[in-house]
Amino acid sequence: MSAPVVRYLTGITTTGTPHLGNYVGAIRPAVQASRRSGTENFYFLADYHALIKCDEPVRIQRSTLEIAACWLAAGLDPQQVFFYRQSDIPEIPELTWLLTCVTGKGVLNRAHAYKAQVDKNAAAGLDADAEVTMGLFMYPVLMAADILMFKAHRIPVGRDQIQHIEMARDMAQSFNHLYGEHLVLPEAQVDESVALLPGLDGRKMSKSYDNVIGLFAPREQVRKQIFAIVTDSRAPGEPKEVEGSALFQIYQAFASAEETRKLRQLYAAGISWADAKQMLFERIDGEIAPMRARYEHLVSHPQELEAVLQAGAAKARERATPLLRDLRQAVGLRNLATVAASAKKDKKASVPSFKQYREADGLFYFKFVDAQGRLLVQSTGFASPREAGQCVAAMKATRAVPMGQGQLAQGVAAQQVELALRELADTEN
Ligand code: TRP
Repeated sequence: MSAPVVRYLTGITTTGTPHLGNYVGAIRPAVQASRRSGTENFYFLADYHALIKCDEPVRIQRSTLEIAACWLAAGLDPQQVFFYRQSDIPEIPELTWLLTCVTGKGVLNRAHAYKAQVDKNAAAGLDADAEVTMGLFMYPVLMAADILMFKAHRIPVGRDQIQHIEMARDMAQSFNHLYGEHLVLPEAQVDESVALLPGLDGRKMSKSYDNVIGLFAPREQVRKQIFAIVTDSRAPGEPKEVEGSALFQIYQAFASAEETRKLRQLYAAGISWADAKQMLFERIDGEIAPMRARYEHLVSHPQELEAVLQAGAAKARERATPLLRDLRQAVGLRNLATVAASAKKDKKASVPSFKQYREADGLFYFKFVDAQGRLLVQSTGFASPREAGQCVAAMKATRAVPMGQGQLAQGVAAQQVELALRELADTEN
């Protein structure tokens, strides 16, 4: 038997333009991970999540375009993985509601992102709910729906997201407890080895610090940004320390162990900052340049990207649609006609019925039994099933046994047979 598949799922919020920190910390490791055998990998553009942070439609669209193009340019193969846009999967908001109904408000009160805003308001002397939309408050439920929708097992995330995965787990547990084992409990996977890239000023590279190097910014701009990395005042020829050198750390994130060792030696030997920056630029450019052409092609041919996402959505929905159908059934959002039909079926078990069969003599017979299964009529033998069927039809039509074609069972009156046939006719109409 082959080993069970492990499903990994990663959401990418579509705000901003990807920078080198995103590439090193998220995109590159995810693209590598997507090639592992025995796994299924889900990568999606979390554009509903983006709406929580951004109310500029043009920026939402642009950012979705750029981020999708980045992931594909970085080597993600949409044939091999599930790559889709959250808002193309209508089952996700539907599942969000089902989960909302099993989630305590108190749980969401404790969510970090919401609490951070409440604390900020308190510090500023504002109302606790200032600037808090229900989108922010419900963020963890939407995220849980993203995860549970695809029965994902492992969610690679940064430390700041662990709480969200635990909440998703709790929601799955509550749902399963109430409605049966439908959802898979996910686990956060925090990879400590993934490099945290420093930015131009040495703090973590982040858009909020305005210290980023763009991933697919024009080559000359990348060069300029690299030359703007903060260094110290040591002159060329003076030995330099690698500890605390943002330049060195960024280089390390791109270079092999061997190349890194060399730069360490050059630092000790007093390489000039200008030369070190040039080395870094060349190393980064060497890795990014081959992808840049694909990125630029995709960004200037959005219809191609759109087609990739549409195909991805169709593939993802092959999983989402049947699960949501089961969940709706589980909670009682059901087609009323199916309920009626199954009630009818249940009833059928307790109504009079004909049972046809063939005997060892090669002839075809039937019995007519009442609701409790007691024998009312035993037919004679017929040469063919068709003739037996004609006799059954005649009984139903006349509410009596055609002459010479069957016998009432012992102690059964003709009137009982007539009543039973009427009962049967009522349920069949
Ligand atoms: N909240 C995640 C972030 O900010 C993005 C995200 C949305 C996500 N849905 C997800 C991540 C589901 C993992 C799984 O990075």
